[in-house]
Amino acid sequence: MMQLPNYKEAKVRNKEQVIREEYKFDSSLKNIGVGKTYHVKTYGCQMNEHDSENIKALLEELGFQEENDYEKADLVLLNTCSIRENAHNKAFGMLGRLKHLKEENKDLIIGLCGCMAQEEGVIEDILHKYKFVNFVFGTHNLHSLPNLLSKNLKSNHQEIEVYSKEGNLIEGLPVKRANSYKAFVNIIYGCDKFCTYCIVPYTRGKQRSRKKEDILKEVETLVREGYQEVTLLGQNVNAYGKDFDYDYRMENLLEDVAKTGIPRVRFMTSHPWDFTDQMIEVIAKYPNVMPSVHLPVQSGSSRILKLMGRRYTKESYLELFHKIKDTIPNVSISTDIIVGFPGETEEDFMETLSLVEECQFDNAFTFIYSPRENTPASKLEDNVSLEEKEKRLYRLNEIVNHYFLVNNQKWIGKVVPVLVEGINTNGKDGLYGYTDTNKLINFMGDPSLTGKIVSIKVTDAKTWSLDGELYE
Ligand code: SAH
Ligand code: SF4
Ligand code: F3S
Repeated sequence: MMQLPNYKEAKVRNKEQVIREEYKFDSSLKNIGVGKTYHVKTYGCQMNEHDSENIKALLEELGFQEENDYEKADLVLLNTCSIRENAHNKAFGMLGRLKHLKEENKDLIIGLCGCMAQEEGVIEDILHKYKFVNFVFGTHNLHSLPNLLSKNLKSNHQEIEVYSKEGNLIEGLPVKRANSYKAFVNIIYGCDKFCTYCIVPYTRGKQRSRKKEDILKEVETLVREGYQEVTLLGQNVNAYGKDFDYDYRMENLLEDVAKTGIPRVRFMTSHPWDFTDQMIEVIAKYPNVMPSVHLPVQSGSSRILKLMGRRYTKESYLELFHKIKDTIPNVSISTDIIVGFPGETEEDFMETLSLVEECQFDNAFTFIYSPRENTPASKLEDNVSLEEKEKRLYRLNEIVNHYFLVNNQKWIGKVVPVLVEGINTNGKDGLYGYTDTNKLINFMGDPSLTGKIVSIKVTDAKTWSLDGELYE
């Protein structure tokens, strides 16, 4: 039986308590992948990266083995992203390539999951135009993968299972972590903000916080295994605990995670709306909570922010920004900005530029607005030409890039703690890692330092990275 996505259901928010459920592996399926290889291709955000870590482990429980070259794999699974049109295009382009591979190899198993699986239009296309796709599952159905796959292998029918209403909170999924020194830990699923341009509330469902006990147990295990860093993940981590019937919020969780002794704690993403003074105090107080905050602003025009449904104004964003800067020593702040939202005038755009001049962000991800199926903004009249949007993006990038360099130059001569990530693969010699303030730094050193936190003296600054040398 097929279960297809439905936007009406995906939009519903209710007060129903979310039920916690333990994942149980159906051991009768444990050999269905023996002798076969898999390749998972991941698009999109850290949530998807982490979901892929679960998906890989689920496939390995079935006997599949990982293959790095998708052209050689027996099963290729695309974990997709819907956030902008180009993410869509990439996944559909890849499906085109897989179609050719399948013409040569009829046994190739092709799967699609992630946020695009939650879109009505995409599933229509898969049903009618991409019939060679074997199976599809949604963001609420990760745990269904073994069953779905085994059904498809037996029947050879296209299997589609996408719940639009979020299911229970599934704990205990197996995980194959990409790193042995830094780890993602989900703390809250879904999003209830419904920013008017954004598809995430429909693809990821209602806001659901994981129980504190489950999160702390996961972090404590990571500490015992020698992990140096955890990143607490959520579309809006500051809303953590708002769905509990007791008082335990992000500031409490952040403090309890810091107390586990994990050397580094990061968290993302923070919506300015739920950022409390207590959170700022906890970040300032605990040396292992990294002084680095991602605080997406989206626009500097209060008029556009209102149309975006962001719930803050330029002034209230700036007030929060300065409070964070003034309270947390040496904090770095990064942001996301959208240009060319429907109806954005030159004056609105100038407001964004003036905000950027004031905030001088350490890093910024800048995007051209991309209308998404079924979102309220996609119904607004979009009277800004693509040429104008591209010009605005260019002008914005010139300014944000300038400040990345200015901020990086402030570090020259200072000694900073760096978590070493490994050997440079971008043509440079030596190693790379990230500072506590989340800056990429290159330096010479022995590869055995990978996974360790070392002291590095900053010797030079570029726009997107620092150079340094080991300091002892
Ligand atoms: N939950 C995070 C953002 C997740 S999406 C938050 O609210 O901050 C990451 C970024 O993609 C957003 O911050 C936004 O800048 C951008 N984005 C989201 N929808 C978009 C769209 N329709 N067009 C262009 N950019 C978009
Ligand atoms: Fe999208 Fe807004 Fe939710 Fe972020 S907070 S995921 S931009 S709806
Ligand atoms: Fe993309 Fe879904 Fe993440 S839309 S950004 S993969 S939550």
